[in-house]
Amino acid sequence: MENTVTTSSFLKLAEKRYSARKYLDKPVDRSLVERAVEAARLAPSACNSQPWHFVIVDEPPRVRKLADATFLPLTRLNKFVTHAPVIAAVVAEPPNASAAVGGYVKKKPYYLMDIGMAVEHFCLQAAEDNLGTCIIGWFNERKVKGFLNVPGSKSIPLLITLGYPEPGSAPVKHRRDLESILSYNSY
Ligand SMILES: Cc1cc2nc3c(=O)[nH]c(=O)nc-3n(C[C@H](O)[C@H](O)[C@H](O)COP(=O)(O)O)c2cc1C
Repeated sequence: MENTVTTSSFLKLAEKRYSARKYLDKPVDRSLVERAVEAARLAPSACNSQPWHFVIVDEPPRVRKLADATFLPLTRLNKFVTHAPVIAAVVAEPPNASAAVGGYVKKKPYYLMDIGMAVEHFCLQAAEDNLGTCIIGWFNERKVKGFLNVPGSKSIPLLITLGYPEPGSAPVKHRRDLESILSYNSY
């Protein structure tokens, strides 16, 4: 397997991406933000529903205000978000009829899977551009929606922080062994 990792440029990129929780105080050019959103735009989705909208917050006072809605009081959880130069909020848009019916019949929230994939495309493109990201699932959605003027009927499954990571701040990747997550022909 080691050989495959070192010779695959995609695997190198997947290895390079990590959840960045320390950022340099350096703005991110909007052209790079747009490349990440472009990568998200190209993600697959159930019935090609593309049920997402990206709200980019890059004005420092607004980032700080938005970050306030991600802290868990009395803990360190998401304290770092306030130092991110950019936060992307991913709004779930209504899926198209086929995806909605399919999701209902199969009892699978396809739109959340779609959004997960688009978010990872975003993060991988950012990594390719030497930017750091962290997907944020813990936040006060009501507050975020109000702050970003998102209609009450819509949801925000995830936020993503974005910025230049502090050099040397990448954590060691902990992952289950390949053997424990892979089997052929039978579980
Ligand atoms: C759906 C989702 C929600 C997450 N929410 C948070 C979060 O609220 N705060 C945080 O610091 N990291 C969050 N993470 C990041 C994970 O902790 C991280 O991806 C995981 O520990 C693996 O580490 P790595 O991304 O550095 O490889 C989230 C990741 C995902 C996919």
